[in-house]
Order: sequence, then structure tokens, then C-alpha cells
Amino acid sequence: MRIDILTLFPSMFSGPFDESIVNRAIDRNLVSIMIHNLRDWGIGKHRVVDDYPFGGGTGMLMKPEPLFEATAAIKKESAHPSAPVILLSPQGRVFNQGIAAELATLDQFILICGHYEGIDERVREHLATDEISIGDYVLTGGEPAAIVVVDAVVRQLPGVLGSEESAKDDSHTGSLLEYPQYTRPQTYEGWEVPEVLLSGDHAKIAKWRREQAILRTLSRRPDLLDKANLSPEERKLISHN
Ligand code: ADE
Repeated sequence: MRIDILTLFPSMFSGPFDESIVNRAIDRNLVSIMIHNLRDWGIGKHRVVDDYPFGGGTGMLMKPEPLFEATAAIKKESAHPSAPVILLSPQGRVFNQGIAAELATLDQFILICGHYEGIDERVREHLATDEISIGDYVLTGGEPAAIVVVDAVVRQLPGVLGSEESAKDDSHTGSLLEYPQYTRPQTYEGWEVPEVLLSGDHAKIAKWRREQAILRTLSRRPDLLDKANLSPEERKLISHN
């Protein structure tokens, strides 16, 4: 997979993508992440990328030309010229595990990080093919959102996680939150690990984990249960709790 990121602040990505699982995926050639400095497509000697809004108002807007030209340059040398162009903005559809899974099937996608007070509307209308928000709050720019999206997508790519850190039990996979987990020591400050986890009975443990995931989702995020794939007995468990 190839991910291209258009940004005015390329250095914001050096920490997050140089560490941990995303970095390992890059090293193993499972993903290539190209950071493009929009300033390189800025206009004139001063490489201008922003301008005042028509009609007045506070703050500056990102000009359209650098974004259109940068995207065209990426597409020109791309093996996948129909790759989606995703604008990160608080106005987009709200990101979730399903969207991450959707993006994880692509060969390539391009992320545009908005900045300043906003972006010329023609980018939204004629360049972006999708718009994603990472939640109902406003960030100073799209960069942290791009980091979130890349992280959630990359960990779903085949081969990125080892089998022992598999994504299949992740919270939100199958619309349930993850069951509680424990490691050593067995007793800490008098707090015990649930007995069932020490039983060695794998079927019993799997049943307990499934029930815990359902009960936890019921108490914390009941809205997720509508989409969850539950058996009739599991539906019964919910109605009794
Ligand atoms: N840019 C500013 N706020 C954002 C958000 N919530 N999601 C994605 N991009 C953003």
C-alpha cells in the first residue's frame, strides 16, 4: 500500500511514523508513506499557500492551486491514478474501524491536511473524493488526524501485526469493545485475576471473554450493539443486564 500525505508541516510526521508498528510496516515494505510539503507547490517566489477569504472574515484559507498541482504530480507518477483523495476536516464522515478496514483494502490513497481557517471550497468540490473527520472537535490542522487514520489503517494490513498481537480481538472489531485482559502478577495489591483465566479451559475462557465483551459494550457503548453480530442467547444476556 502507498499513502501520500499533503501537508504544510512535514516535520509533524517524523515522530509518529518513525516509531513502533507503523515504522516496522514501512521497514518491511508493507506500506510506503510519502510526505509531501505543500509549500513546494506554493505560488511565486514566496511559495504562497494561503490567502484572504473573499467576502471578508478572519483568518486565512488554503489556496486551491498548490493542492490541485501537488495531487496531479502524485497521480502522474502513480501506478494507481484513481486513488481516492481524502480531505481531513471536521466536516467529514466520522472515522471508525469500518472506514479503516475499507481504506486498508486500497492500493493507494492520498490524504490532504487542511490548515488555517479552512480550505478553498473548490478543493472539496472538485479534488477530494472523500472527507474524513476523526471526531467532533476541531484540531488546528489535519496532521494529527492523518496520523490517526494512517495508524488505524496500517495495523489492519496483512502481515503488519504478529499473530500474538492480532487485530481480530481489537475493540470495535465486530462492533464490540475488547474484553478485560490481565497479566502477571496473579495478585496485585490484593486484586485477583479472574479465576476462569487460570483454569486452562480454553472453551470456557473464550465464552467468558465473549460475555465480558458484550457486557462491557452494553455498559459503555450500547449504541454499538445494534450493529453487533450476536446470537439469540447473547441477545438474551443483554436483556437480562
Ligand atoms: N482538522 C481539524 N479538525 C479535524 C478533525 N476533527 N478531523 C479531521 N481533520 C480535522
